[in-house]
Amino acid sequence: MQFLRFAFTAVLAAVAVEASSFTCKNKAVISSSFIGQNSDVQVDTVTCSNVVGKRDLEARQTNVCAATCTTNCFTPSGGGPNPNDCQVISDALLYDSQNIGALFNIASGTTIYMQYSTCQTFFVNQASYNETYCRTNWANVVEYVAFNCQSTQNAHGGNCVPPDQTWFVQVQTAP
Ligand SMILES: *[C@@H]1O[C@H](CO)[C@@H](O)[C@H](O)[C@H]1NC(C)=O
Repeated sequence: MQFLRFAFTAVLAAVAVEASSFTCKNKAVISSSFIGQNSDVQVDTVTCSNVVGKRDLEARQTNVCAATCTTNCFTPSGGGPNPNDCQVISDALLYDSQNIGALFNIASGTTIYMQYSTCQTFFVNQASYNETYCRTNWANVVEYVAFNCQSTQNAHGGNCVPPDQTWFVQVQTAP
């Protein structure tokens, strides 16, 4: 689905955005690596043709760590990631937070994927400026969605979206 960049429109479309699972179109990998204590969580920085972002038009780096996001579970039940696999990603993020740094940068219009076994999560920067986010926050979202958006909650993964929708985190089954 098309994510809307203008606040006024975004408010009107908020329900649709929150309820929807995002799929990256025409994924192009910029860089790849492995993170975590055992270097077993794959990280890909990519571009998607359906994330607009107006790359680097605004010369600023904005810290969005303080923005509280709202969790949404994706219906219906079934086919979600194994939460224990998501826990490995969450632990890798916490490990990197302690050993590399609390913060990471993500360029405007790019998406960072992390994957371990059945679990995949990604952070989308759909703002017109570069963003800085906290590894511990991402770890918490992954853990929360993995364990609270399962079959028993009539769900299969979910996302976390801040009020201004300049970014979001999704947690889902690895394709
Ligand atoms: C945004 O991030 C990209 C990629 O790291 C970098 O090349 C660019 O200079 C950054 N732009 C600003 C305004 O900081």
